[in-house]
Amino acid sequence: MKILPSILSANFARLAEDVQDIAKDVDMIHVDVMDGHFVPNITMGANVVQALKKETTVAQDVHLMVEEPIDLLPSFLEAGADMISVHIEACKHLHRAIQIIKDGGAKAGVVLNPSTPVSSLASIIKDIDYVLIMTVDPGFGGQSFIYSMIDKIKAVHDMILSMNLSVEIEVDGGINPETLPLCLQAGASLFVAGSAVFNCSDRHQAIQDLIQSSQT
Ligand code: DX5
Ligand code: ZN
Repeated sequence: MKILPSILSANFARLAEDVQDIAKDVDMIHVDVMDGHFVPNITMGANVVQALKKETTVAQDVHLMVEEPIDLLPSFLEAGADMISVHIEACKHLHRAIQIIKDGGAKAGVVLNPSTPVSSLASIIKDIDYVLIMTVDPGFGGQSFIYSMIDKIKAVHDMILSMNLSVEIEVDGGINPETLPLCLQAGASLFVAGSAVFNCSDRHQAIQDLIQSSQT
């Protein structure tokens, strides 16, 4: 299992320092890109990925919460993104998007909003490296975990097992030491945590608490 701190909850005025601060504890961060259309918020673009690449060695998992992300993919790949996910609800030409990400040398994922059914994965699951299951509606950090997503994680996990695939399951939204073990037991292995890491005065302890919770 891996903890991926979401820099959405970091201090944007001190982003490099915040990332360097947790670089000893994790090997990947989660970068939330929002366009103000797909979600009601605007955050950052490929220039931030590129700038952070020069300041830290941690890998970057880019979560694109944008309408029609295809045209943006080359800039994120050039900027050095290691994993890129696109929302199934936002992408008309999903297989093309996944192919562009893979051809660019990054791991490719698709994201499902809480209300998007598991069945929507059927025609793409063989082509991807990971599924990101949103456990809140995307757009903001600090929201409450939607508990009915546990059954959804299990259903995706079952689908992956029944097809004998090695697709990973990532979860994002409201992940904390109480919700992480539930997602782990359901089949998730990548855990995004924003406020549970950056809103704590001791981030190292917060990350340790998340890791510890997986052993309960
Ligand atoms: C929400 C973002 C999340 C967010 C999670 O739209 O995709 O990555 O940063 O924040 P927490 O962990 O605070 O729910
Ligand atoms: Zn995210």
